[in-house]
Amino acid sequence: MKIAVAGGTGVTGRHVTESVRAAGHTAVVLSRSAGVDLMDGRGLADALRGVSAVIDVTNTMTTSRSRAVAFFSTVTTNLLEAEREAGVGHHVAVSIIGADRIDYSYYLAKRRQEELVLAGPVPCSVLRTTQFHEFAGQILDRVRGPVALAPQMLSQPMAAAEAAAALVQLAVSGPTGLAPELAGPQELQMVNLVRRVARARGSHRPVLAVRLPGAVGKAIAGGGQLPTGPGPRGVMTFDEWLAAGGATGPVPLSAGPAGAGPASTGRASADPASTDPASTGRAGP
Ligand SMILES: NC(=O)c1ccc[n+]([C@@H]2O[C@H](COP(=O)([O-])OP(=O)(O)OC[C@H]3O[C@@H](n4cnc5c(N)ncnc54)[C@H](OP(=O)(O)O)[C@@H]3O)[C@@H](O)[C@H]2O)c1
Repeated sequence: MKIAVAGGTGVTGRHVTESVRAAGHTAVVLSRSAGVDLMDGRGLADALRGVSAVIDVTNTMTTSRSRAVAFFSTVTTNLLEAEREAGVGHHVAVSIIGADRIDYSYYLAKRRQEELVLAGPVPCSVLRTTQFHEFAGQILDRVRGPVALAPQMLSQPMAAAEAAAALVQLAVSGPTGLAPELAGPQELQMVNLVRRVARARGSHRPVLAVRLPGAVGKAIAGGGQLPTGPGPRGVMTFDEWLAAGGATGPVPLSAGPAGAGPASTGRASADPASTDPASTGRAGP
């Protein structure tokens, strides 16, 4: 089966591309560095020739609501239209747990993406996940300077490699619409994870927790992005991911516990580090 990975060069996309190949399928990467611009459609029609499914893990780095909405709306519309014309039978999109109920600028864009996909012309699957373990490093990388800022956020993160495997499984199994939410094995405070990644990279940069204002900040700090049902769970803990070198490079799924892959019985547990007074995020924006 030929599967196109939109955003196949990104943090998540590299794992998706690897998962596609590991499962014995052919991966086609759709990204600007691979000659396909999904904002204007350059190179897209040619790249979709013979493709059976598209997994969209594109992303834009912005906190601007209008820029985020413009990106996800345009990319999704261009992809779906090109897929319809090329006869692609399945569009798989990744979204974020809580995007449908928290009015954060970026989540409004993900919500719009979900709506377009679910009402679109191509049979689809939408997988909402929690933050990935890799997100802690992305937070550090996004804002340079002497002090790093991390959101006050209760999360149940998972390895991007496990989310990637789940996306490929969906792509191969066929359209399911909105899939059960996929989360990681433990509830953790994001600021602690950012500090631990900084330490693992040998950085002494202080990491301050910042609470976003208003109802959005309250929801993000209070677990609004945690799964609401018992659904599937990744098994690789943040500790295991860190021990496998995740802070400094991509961790293949084989580096995790034997047979690692989204499991259906994992239970969330409290973050022991969340009792650390430094994790209470009193340092505001
Ligand atoms: N990171 C997380 O914790 C997390 C958790 C849950 C869900 N997600 C979702 O997963 C997706 C991927 O996130 P990520 O953090 O892995 O992203 P990322 O590392 O920032 O990668 C973004 C990808 O999008 C491609 N891209 C950007 N603009 C493009 C354009 N105009 N045309 C074609 N390709 C373009 C980039 O490639 P080029 O630069 O080469 O174009 C790159 O491959 C997002 O939709 C995000 O909402 C992420």
